[in-house]
Amino acid sequence: MHRYCRDPQSRAKVIVEPVAILPLRLVHLEDNPVDHGLVVRALRRADWDAEIMLVDTMEGFRRALGDPAGVQAVLADYHLAGFSGMEAWDWMRQQGIDLPFILVSGAIGEATVADAMVRGVSDYVDKQQLARLPRVLQRALELHATRRREAEAARALAESRQRLLELTEHLQTSIDRERADIAREIHDDIGGALAAVKLDLAWLQRRLTDAQALAHVAAAMAMTEQALGASQRIMRNLRPAVLDQGLMPALQWLTRTFAERTGLEVTLQGGLRRTAALPPRVEMTAYRTVQEALTNVLKHAQARRVRVEVSDLEDHLTLEIADDGQGASAEALRKERSFGLLGLRERAQSVGGWLDVVTAPGQGMTLILSIPLSEAARAAAVEED
Ligand SMILES: Nc1ncnc2c1ncn2[C@@H]1O[C@H](COP(=O)(O)OP(=O)(O)OP(=O)(O)O)[C@@H](O)[C@H]1O
Ligand SMILES: [Mg+2]
Repeated sequence: MHRYCRDPQSRAKVIVEPVAILPLRLVHLEDNPVDHGLVVRALRRADWDAEIMLVDTMEGFRRALGDPAGVQAVLADYHLAGFSGMEAWDWMRQQGIDLPFILVSGAIGEATVADAMVRGVSDYVDKQQLARLPRVLQRALELHATRRREAEAARALAESRQRLLELTEHLQTSIDRERADIAREIHDDIGGALAAVKLDLAWLQRRLTDAQALAHVAAAMAMTEQALGASQRIMRNLRPAVLDQGLMPALQWLTRTFAERTGLEVTLQGGLRRTAALPPRVEMTAYRTVQEALTNVLKHAQARRVRVEVSDLEDHLTLEIADDGQGASAEALRKERSFGLLGLRERAQSVGGWLDVVTAPGQGMTLILSIPLSEAARAAAVEED
């Protein structure tokens, strides 16, 4: 093993500083001690502070990389006694050891160099041109460090996206559960009490003869009916009928009541061909998507007509909600404080699906929700991603 330290008096710049911890630890796979000496000299000339471990067998190479964290790069001859430097490279890949790997060899021909590069080797230096080695090594180290940083950043981003998705899913499940609880309480407490009041009022109605008293009872009865209607409406909004009766009846109710309330023309087309029930979370996602889309139409579209189309062809649940309103620009869709479409996208993702938004100013808006229904369709969707 050789160790070379930078001369403190030297004014030469420390070229490896941005990417390597000094001293740099290298493994040199070389069976010719003279060539090794030349490599060492080439690095020393460039003032590299390096520890270079010389190995000349595969066995020695494996041992030298026993702790890859202690090594920053590998230099390897191509033709070695009984094996090739590329075998060492293949072994490193198999072991998942990710280090810059530079072939330092006599002339091996362009095709061999190209093949080595295609197989992922960092670079190649001809033994006749060892003066290039420090620069090539520096570039390989920098590239490697950049790639690592990028991979790390991508991993961190993917992880935080995943956590965000889990949080959204958790929040949505909590909201749905809480809504269902409130709906149940309204049903049991308020609904129960109002039904009892109605019975008592009916009892009074049958017994009373005084006209004025009867008028009061009738008024109270009307108010009670109204309160019952209101509590049923609130319950349905809180805990959509989808939970009990299936997606299509729920969408029929949603579109009909929306049309009645707004005066817009709403058509519900298509339907489900499969007889098996859809998973509850898929139904809920579909229901909430139509609900938010209709709310958006009312808030933003200035539309006259809305078409909702449902299908489960090709193993996918597809829902299309199209309006003939003013549409939206790309900037409008990215508004900072708008969470409706964002929430729908995340809901869709949480059940393995996706949401497409097709719109342009003056062109209306169409939301398309697609959810793969079987495991196979789900796997195919993931592959396409
Ligand atoms: N059907 C539509 N027609 C025209 N513009 C729309 C339509 N739906 C959405 N938009 C535009 O896209 C934006 C984003 O919609 P999104 O549902 O995400 O948020 P929002 O409705 O503004 O607020 P939130 O849903 O969070 O209460 C809207 O502010 C609006 O400008
Ligand atoms: Mg909205």
